[in-house]
Amino acid sequence: MSTPAGTTAAIVGCGDVSLVHFEAIRALGIELVGVADVDPAGLARARQLAPDVLGFESHKELLAAVRPDVVHVTTPHDQHTQITLDLLAAGVNVIQEKPLANTLTAAHCIVEASQHTSARLGICLQNRYNNSAQALKQVLEDGELGDVLGAYASVVWTRTPDYYQAKPWRGRWQNAGGGLLINQALHTLDLLQWFLGEPTAVSGRAATLKYGDVIEVEDSATAMFTHPSTVVEGGITSTFVGSLTNTVHRPVEIEIYGTKGTATIADGLHLRFDDGRAKDLAERVVPSGGRSYWGMSHQALIEDFHGRLGDDEPFWIGAEQAMPSLRMLKEIYAQTWPDTSRHQ
Ligand SMILES: NC(=O)c1ccc[n+]([C@@H]2O[C@H](COP(=O)([O-])OP(=O)(O)OC[C@H]3O[C@@H](n4cnc5c(N)ncnc54)[C@H](O)[C@@H]3O)[C@@H](O)[C@H]2O)c1
Repeated sequence: MSTPAGTTAAIVGCGDVSLVHFEAIRALGIELVGVADVDPAGLARARQLAPDVLGFESHKELLAAVRPDVVHVTTPHDQHTQITLDLLAAGVNVIQEKPLANTLTAAHCIVEASQHTSARLGICLQNRYNNSAQALKQVLEDGELGDVLGAYASVVWTRTPDYYQAKPWRGRWQNAGGGLLINQALHTLDLLQWFLGEPTAVSGRAATLKYGDVIEVEDSATAMFTHPSTVVEGGITSTFVGSLTNTVHRPVEIEIYGTKGTATIADGLHLRFDDGRAKDLAERVVPSGGRSYWGMSHQALIEDFHGRLGDDEPFWIGAEQAMPSLRMLKEIYAQTWPDTSRHQ
């Protein structure tokens, strides 16, 4: 992967995850020509990271003053849609943080806009770039596991009230559009559907087990997804378990059961075949700025996006590819709270 000479970037939203984008832009030698944040504290943080860069109070001011090749949108969930729509309408390429949007309605607007612009859009579902995920995708495509019979996935992490109190949007339906599922487990739901196909049926429930006095959104969920299968009538199922109530972060686990063996992602990929063969693949080390539980591969996705700006075809993780995981989790909200708008 190579970054074309002359590529410039800007960042809108200078909070926690922006550190990873600042670091990736610096490491890849991309010129940072502007940053924007509605909060002066965000701009102050940006000035510490990039003292000479121009700072703006909104993406509109930034757009009027500088013309980056790519804008990285790293704002809260409900602040993705309008910013991304404005940038695409201005013909500016966008790398946008996950989720696609806080609601399905807003997400559809981004899909629609991305289909009617020459600008390119990439969504940060960077766990697809993890060594273990890429290798497992290849194992499945090569049929090494035989026919897939089922799968299991878990996201069992820890969160403290401080995490939500520091950034209250994370705990509110209106801003975040959900909790554990849309914010933390989204990557794992995306990998499940990338490996096994978008579910044809979802059966699930979400709940707030630990942090009900701090947040509105769920901190726990369980679900069964039915995925298409050419060999199992009615499809195969995956079981998902997630919670932010644990005392420590457990590694994200994804296990896929085939007629010839089992593949397990848990801090790397572990293949165990019924004929006795075994293969293990280590995960890459997380670069500075990132957190290992976010996935290791933000920088790889950012490098790939900038490096492919000249390609004819759209970026491979665009708005449409970010929809299945959002549909999966919104269906769990629909089944848990059918009389609310939480699933919209
Ligand atoms: N891909 C990943 O693994 C990963 C990891 C962490 C966070 N994220 C995502 O990154 C996004 C940001 O999360 P965070 O934890 O950094 O949030 P944060 O609250 O720490 O930072 C968001 C920043 O955006 C600014 N902001 C809000 N509205 C704005 C607007 N309209 N224009 C400009 N700036 C605005 C805020 O002032 C704040 O500085 C979320 O979508 C989150 O889900 C992704």
